[in-house]
Amino acid sequence: TWTNDEIIDEQVRAIREQVGDKQVICGLSGGVDSAVAAALVQRAVGDQLTCVFVDHGLLRAGEAEQVEQDYVAATGIKLKVVDAADRFLNALAGVTDPEQKRKIVGREFIRVFEQAAREVAAENDVEFLVQGTLYPDVVESGGGTGTANIKSHHNVGGLPEDLKFTLIEPLRTLFKDEVRAIGAALGLPAEIVQRHPFPGPGLSIRIIGEVTRDRLDVLRAADKIAREELTAAGLDREIWQVPVVLLADVRSVGVQGDGRTYGHPIVLRPVSSEDAMTADWSRLPYDVIARISTRITNEVPEVNRVVLDVTSKPPGTIEWE
Ligand code: XMP
Repeated sequence: TWTNDEIIDEQVRAIREQVGDKQVICGLSGGVDSAVAAALVQRAVGDQLTCVFVDHGLLRAGEAEQVEQDYVAATGIKLKVVDAADRFLNALAGVTDPEQKRKIVGREFIRVFEQAAREVAAENDVEFLVQGTLYPDVVESGGGTGTANIKSHHNVGGLPEDLKFTLIEPLRTLFKDEVRAIGAALGLPAEIVQRHPFPGPGLSIRIIGEVTRDRLDVLRAADKIAREELTAAGLDREIWQVPVVLLADVRSVGVQGDGRTYGHPIVLRPVSSEDAMTADWSRLPYDVIARISTRITNEVPEVNRVVLDVTSKPPGTIEWE
């Protein structure tokens, strides 16, 4: 078995050999895989790598800053940020169907990334594209069909002919826990390395109903509280992920402060899982649930009810959309 340092050294050597003096581009999503893949390539070829971060405005509180500030500070990576929130929100206006939301986010993402890649390529003559493909992704897509169980994914696969890059996939032989260990060994921020799985379409599929800026703000505030309390309770490791969902078209009556309210429910969906194909609802300690509920209803005025999802997968998927 190899140590993390040996894996890093070997990857750095292989990437240097593959890249030579050519230029490389990488899309960052905010997630673990692309962050570790890019950090490895940066370790190998330094400023020959340019990273592109498309901020689609659908990330959780603090996540864009984690990439733009903490990750850059930790790695010294050359980063191009595209603030595309308006574009994504405009494209999502009026849309409530989950698969439609996925298609729109996926389509816009490719367009924005393509434009940014063109700009970087025009300056630098880029030959290589880094992807954070893991060993399970390689196995799953072996038949070319992907997995029927994960809702229509989007990644940077469909680039046009004149933007055909050679792929660098430094994580192809690794599992998620190994990738996390390597990320830590590379000095990446814990918030990125330990991040729970988060869907590409982001918060758009955690607002049941139309996605608007105001609704995103409400969901972000509630999600931030739930994550803070889980972390404070030391539960991050044993919980697979905790989607926090805003039922934006549902209202219920409540009493808050001086009187009657007519607000929205927030759903907590903590799950335990090995691989997301099946999952069980997590038996979180009642006092943790109580703190999350009290804080959300105190601190987020639009929310007057917090409910707990106690459905396994199957029959329920992990996400609500
Ligand atoms: P479901 O809801 O299908 O989710 O039980 C299984 C896992 O996949 C994540 N997920 C997605 N990830 N794009 C992604 O990149 C998507 O459209 C998407 N939908 C669900 C979900 O968070 C869970 O980890």
